[in-house]
Amino acid sequence: MRSALMLVRAVAGLEWLVAEEVTAAGCRVVEVSKRQVVVDGLVEPPRMADDVFEVYGVAPDPGRARAGVAAAVQAALPSAPGGGVFAVSASFVGERNFNRYDVEDVVGQRLARLTGGRYHSRRDGAVPPDERTEWRVVLDGKTLWIARRPYAAPIHRRPWRQHTVPGSLHPPVAAAMAHLADLAPGHQVLDPFCGAGTILLESHLIEPRVTYLGVDRDPTAIAAAQANAAQLVGPSINWRVGDARRVEGSFDRIVSNPPWGVRVDAATVSAGMRRWREVLRPGGVVVALVLAEQVPRGWTVLGRHQLAVAGRHPVIVVLGVSRY
Ligand SMILES: C[S@@+](CC[C@H](N)C(=O)[O-])C[C@H]1O[C@@H](n2cnc3c(N)ncnc32)[C@H](O)[C@@H]1O
Repeated sequence: MRSALMLVRAVAGLEWLVAEEVTAAGCRVVEVSKRQVVVDGLVEPPRMADDVFEVYGVAPDPGRARAGVAAAVQAALPSAPGGGVFAVSASFVGERNFNRYDVEDVVGQRLARLTGGRYHSRRDGAVPPDERTEWRVVLDGKTLWIARRPYAAPIHRRPWRQHTVPGSLHPPVAAAMAHLADLAPGHQVLDPFCGAGTILLESHLIEPRVTYLGVDRDPTAIAAAQANAAQLVGPSINWRVGDARRVEGSFDRIVSNPPWGVRVDAATVSAGMRRWREVLRPGGVVVALVLAEQVPRGWTVLGRHQLAVAGRHPVIVVLGVSRY
């Protein structure tokens, strides 16, 4: 019989927040490991997750030797659903005497035999066809997991997201920031470096009863944010072309991902962040995704989550106004 377990994949550093999200939704967390949360009884895909796969096969991790992989896959997968075109994507932790393509091919060939489907190998860099089922294999050092995505697309790919700008944020990270902001009805929320609007749109999906303002100095970014917002039903978000250093207003929350100093000079970015003190209400909270060296000084750090995204190691910091 098929397992009800789901592999919930996460951005490195967000695993425990994803576990919290699924627990709050009434699911049982079976285990948490690097980039993965195994969950029982999942109904809705978590917003903070990267992707979700339904488990069809489990066996002990065969370890380092290549010879053990085929036997483990056979034990894990006595039968499988499917047919049609499918692809397999594998990852493992630790040193192995095989590579990911070796694992993918073993699983792909086994699935093709069991289901009569056509396996599309990624070994030579060929892009698989859009119309496919996606299988995921994880060797986490303890267990070999074989799972299938129950959705047509990865869940981090949001239907509302039609436009991006350079530096646009991975939506699950934006969802995690919105969660950490602890948004409540009636709040006034600002993103002064809003880009294509990812943070405020994910925030709106979590808490729509908030007044949101997104500001960016680039009119193209504001147009992108407006176009993305138009994909959602009636989001109450105001978008404005403006400079983060001169933003006006009074806000309960500032949730933002300032530039990491590649296209914008560091002085401009830190001047934009200094403005947060002027526009944040007493008791207000800032949630910012910044590089470690950009964390603004003189704030009380209420939370800190180290991530690994896009080859960088930024940190989500939750900041409150220091009383001293
Ligand atoms: C890292 S991107 C934000 C990406 C956004 N979170 C998204 O998902 O699309 C930083 C944004 O800051 C904007 N920016 C840079 N300097 C600014 C300034 N002084 N005032 C306002 N926006 C600024 C850039 O135009 C860019 O869109």
